[in-house]
Amino acid sequence: MSFITDDPNMLDDWLVAGPATALAGTSEARPRAARLLGETLQLWGDAAGTPQCRLGSQALAVQSRHGYLWVCPGGTPARPLFDFPEYGEAGRRIVDCGAIGVAVSGLRVIENFLDMAHFPFVHADVLGKVPHTEVATYQVRIEPGTGEIWATDCRFWQPRASAAHDSGSEVLYKYRVMQPLTAMLYKSSHRAGKLDAIGLFLQPLDDEHVIAHTLLACYDDTSTDAELIAFQHTIFGQDKPILENHAFKRMPLEGRAETPTRGDTSSVTYRRWLRERGMRFGVRQAA
Ligand SMILES: [Fe+2]
Repeated sequence: MSFITDDPNMLDDWLVAGPATALAGTSEARPRAARLLGETLQLWGDAAGTPQCRLGSQALAVQSRHGYLWVCPGGTPARPLFDFPEYGEAGRRIVDCGAIGVAVSGLRVIENFLDMAHFPFVHADVLGKVPHTEVATYQVRIEPGTGEIWATDCRFWQPRASAAHDSGSEVLYKYRVMQPLTAMLYKSSHRAGKLDAIGLFLQPLDDEHVIAHTLLACYDDTSTDAELIAFQHTIFGQDKPILENHAFKRMPLEGRAETPTRGDTSSVTYRRWLRERGMRFGVRQAA
């Protein structure tokens, strides 16, 4: 048995393998199966509730954090899992919005997540509305300590920014890319001075298929969990067919296969960041 890639960006990092709640009722004799990089893992909680993971007869490193199970397929993680301080912050609601399969490279899903220019067209009357199509200049930097991409000072006019919003407002966004297949979005909330956090954690099944896990850590005293989840599903349901209809399922990183457009500083930075780490998994090889 072996994984379908030898890219250390996948093998030597922590990859999400499903929600931590999936371990309820499991044991070594009754594990839960999860797909990752072309293989089927067995996951269970031991007598102390500590997660365990096996591929065939081989034990793999696994940890439960931020509400999810994270597996290091190669066995030797090159770095610790990213921090998510908002997950444990008092006053926030933590809502797991479930898992959605997407038939495209996960790199495409993250790039789309970072892109504000599509809001008025793909999420019309919710996250954007014509003629409010301008993506104002924003800042993008790589954090020296963590190597994460941060895009800050992003502002966009939105008709209905979240389940708790019922009128238009200019919304402040921050984006954060922690790993090639994980990203966070922080945006204006209903609590003054506080930002809602939305995590997008992609479980790579193969180069052209992921399971997208979405988690909210938000301030909302009125919406039900079902309403919060429905809002996220509506947004994701609008992105999914567009993602799955890309001419190339994998992400081109070289040459001019797709010409960058205005307002996509995040995308340019993300692609360069992937090239610099020698990303091969989910990447379209130049012809
Ligand atoms: Fe979208």
